[in-house]
Amino acid sequence: MMKRPLIFLTLLLSITAHAQTRDWENPAVLGINKLPYHATLQLPSKQKECKEIVSLDGQWLFHWSKDPESRPFDFYQEQYDVSQWGQITVPGNWQLQGYGKPIYVNMQYPFHRDRPSVTGEPNKDWYAYDHRNPVGSYVTFFDVTKEMLLKNLILHFGGVHSAMYVWINGQKVGYSQNSMSPAEFDVTKYVRKGKNKLAVEVYRWSDGSYLECQDMWRLSGIFRSVQLWVRPLVHIADYKVEAVPNADFSQAQVTADIAICNTGKKQVKDIKAVLKIEGTTNEGFLKRLAAGDTSHVKITYTLENPRLWSAEKPNLYPFSVELKTTPVEEVFEHFDYHLGVKRVECVGEVFKINGKNVKLRGVNRHDHHPLTGRYVDDATYEEDIRLMKQGNINFLRTSHYPDREYLYELCDRWGIYVMDEANQESHGYGYANREMGEDPAWRDAHVDRAVSLVQRDKNHPSVIFWSLGNEGGVGPNLKAMREAVVSLDTIALPFCDTDRRWSDIYDDGYLSPARLATEAKKVTDRPFMMREYAHAMGNSMGNFQEYWDVIYADSSICGAAIWDWVDQGLYKQDPSGKTFFAYGGDFGDQPNDGPFCINGLIAPDRKPHPHYYEVQHVYQPLAFVLDSESICIVNHDSFTALDEYEYYYEISRNGEVAGGGLLELNGDRMALPYYPDDNEVTMTIQARLKEDKPWAKAGFAVASEQFILREYIFPWGETTVADGKVKNSTIDGNTLSSWVIDGQEMLQAPLEPYFWKPENDNQHAAGFARRTAVWKDVTDVTVNYTVIDERSIKVEVDYNPTGADKPVIPKLGMRMRLPADFSHIDYYGRGPWENYPDRKRSAFLGRYQMPLSEFETEYVHPQDNGCRTDVRWLNISNGKRALRVEGYQPLCIRAWDYGEEDLETAKHPYEIQRGRFVNLNIDLNVHGVGGIDTWGQRTLPQYTIDGNKPYHYAFILTWK
Ligand code: GAL
Repeated sequence: MMKRPLIFLTLLLSITAHAQTRDWENPAVLGINKLPYHATLQLPSKQKECKEIVSLDGQWLFHWSKDPESRPFDFYQEQYDVSQWGQITVPGNWQLQGYGKPIYVNMQYPFHRDRPSVTGEPNKDWYAYDHRNPVGSYVTFFDVTKEMLLKNLILHFGGVHSAMYVWINGQKVGYSQNSMSPAEFDVTKYVRKGKNKLAVEVYRWSDGSYLECQDMWRLSGIFRSVQLWVRPLVHIADYKVEAVPNADFSQAQVTADIAICNTGKKQVKDIKAVLKIEGTTNEGFLKRLAAGDTSHVKITYTLENPRLWSAEKPNLYPFSVELKTTPVEEVFEHFDYHLGVKRVECVGEVFKINGKNVKLRGVNRHDHHPLTGRYVDDATYEEDIRLMKQGNINFLRTSHYPDREYLYELCDRWGIYVMDEANQESHGYGYANREMGEDPAWRDAHVDRAVSLVQRDKNHPSVIFWSLGNEGGVGPNLKAMREAVVSLDTIALPFCDTDRRWSDIYDDGYLSPARLATEAKKVTDRPFMMREYAHAMGNSMGNFQEYWDVIYADSSICGAAIWDWVDQGLYKQDPSGKTFFAYGGDFGDQPNDGPFCINGLIAPDRKPHPHYYEVQHVYQPLAFVLDSESICIVNHDSFTALDEYEYYYEISRNGEVAGGGLLELNGDRMALPYYPDDNEVTMTIQARLKEDKPWAKAGFAVASEQFILREYIFPWGETTVADGKVKNSTIDGNTLSSWVIDGQEMLQAPLEPYFWKPENDNQHAAGFARRTAVWKDVTDVTVNYTVIDERSIKVEVDYNPTGADKPVIPKLGMRMRLPADFSHIDYYGRGPWENYPDRKRSAFLGRYQMPLSEFETEYVHPQDNGCRTDVRWLNISNGKRALRVEGYQPLCIRAWDYGEEDLETAKHPYEIQRGRFVNLNIDLNVHGVGGIDTWGQRTLPQYTIDGNKPYHYAFILTWK
């Protein structure tokens, strides 16, 4: 009897204590015992050599709970038995290692929105309904030696999503949120000699998640490396080394600001800080530093005639910072880094780097890997930056949070301008919302994300903008972010998309080329940019050159960044066990936004899509212009001279290379080489690298163009008509329904007028199928067949519209189906990659041969694909026999081993029914892919087919 109230009281106390410890639903608690944010101390590529770092990455013990209530409350205690737990790889996301589900959503919160709580009751069908904030409990053990105990030990987490508690040997060390920035704790007093237990409890969602509502897979866990830093008691807490060039760039004033802290129990004296740069040794002194104190030492150095850093010429000055004892000089701490000298400024409306009006040819990139999710390994970083450099991309926005440090080092070294973005997006409350932007309770949470951004990355020369986040709030919280940024760094410029008052650059997004031109004119107080444009979802990126015609014509537009770099597909097994790329909903995730995360220039495995090459072409730094005697070069770059490249030309006759060689540069011109008078003559020019770069070998073409010197002569003229004795084909009105060659029926389905084409993602979003549905039935067409002989038929198509209110025609042409073994293609037209009327500048005329599987493009989300435009002729063969299609004018041809209906019903490539026949579309024209956004904008009118105009076209089919 007596015991009851006691038990009740204990229970009550523990419930209250529990309620109070919900730091993860309290925006006032951003961390507990976290050390201040600071710069990456050692260059990422040199961290392996750094004696201070012990990696704790590897296999950890792991327990997953569907909600906080069911988590193992006291797993951090030393005696808690974790021997039966599963394992997990750190770094990694738990959803990709068999625990819980990944969720892909764009703008909404995947949990019940009720800030700061993340555990309210959502819709019943949401994953979060039964999984009211899953918890991952992690345990690992690490060894500490006697020597280590004399040092200062710091536990470093590169990134943990979304919030975590940390314990060592059963003692609570601290708490952290702000998932994309490092969290550090001083663990010296918790460790002991021998084996130590590290326990980390990670919450899938926290109040921090209200600022992490980015359009991406929502994944959790310890997804970046964990390190134990074994540091001298007196050590470098932080350093900033910056270079400010003078007006004419003849000198740069280098300032190293080194923060030194004393974590020992005694005052120390006479510390020397050293900055070694360019073979010079520059010193600063600290007379004394009291126990527990931090003091700054400033060292200056003047660089004469500095080699400036730019994306074109990424000149770096390697340096080191060291601490030494005195008078007996002994180095007790040493870090390596590099410095770049640059000036970034807005001069009125004009954006300048190193005094030049540089154009930012940009792309947005999510930190995504199809296997490891939010953890992207070094090799993939290198592949990404190599492909960007080869693709003539010079500007990267780290949408929408700081990436892992090594990415910035690559941008420094290989040359990419970076917009480094704070991990701040409250889109679930709406674009430019006031709830989050104005609420004082959320001010510090905003500022924390700005401070962590700048503090970590301030020494990277590649950073030119500090972005306050993406699609978050407007109001004083954004202003406070800006103030924090400019108080920490004055070299890179602050940028804000939602609250333009706090941005040095005026930004807008997804404008059409025409609107970009008019909107940019209206802004006169600062440069203009589109932080996102050219939504590259699926088969997209039409009208890309049109954007750049506008951007090059207006010096106040500093550039634009494509949305986005890589399709965010995740590996998953199809029912037959083969791997495919999954998107929203494929894991049974609710809510989800389906394939809206598949917007890349490259596939998740980094294979470039056809439109990657269009970007490479339009973004190329040089443009070639042909006049009657010479080729003139326009240089869009600012720091690279034309003679830094070698120029090659190649002459082709009917697509076959007929000669070529080096061209001599004379100023900005080259004489037109000799070319024959023939049918058809093209010339391709290439500007090639003279020497190896880290991202391409000498000889790599950074720019190229093709000119038609003699036009193709299409086979107009009289055809001899068979005298009616030829009986191996059947013509029913507009349809060629049978054609028997050598005893075999060659038509699996008739050749007939066919105006339908499946939608691509852009078209789907713009209601294309609905608007053009009438074209599922062809009207107003007459087809004339002229049988030339048993093996040859001429086809003439006439479209004469009756009425004047017809919608645009998806494609104007014919379709037929051939036996399934016709799987090899040889053609003369634009290629080698897929091209459409509004996306064909990079696809040069040539003779190309490929299997049908390469003629098709396999998009992660199946849709219309594979077109080749300006086709003069095409042979499709099964090795024994070939059908030749020859145009009387350029043709658009698509060929697949499936039908339109198969494509339209499949949600993933593995669901496409293949192999029953080869579907061949032979068209005069096809509706362009579109290239503005995937939420309503249509293909530009000049790339559509007006249904109210007449058309005529013809081709000859011949069996060989
Ligand atoms: C933007 C947003 C991106 C992405 C894109 C659509 O407005 O900033 O994160 O959602 O739309 O794919």
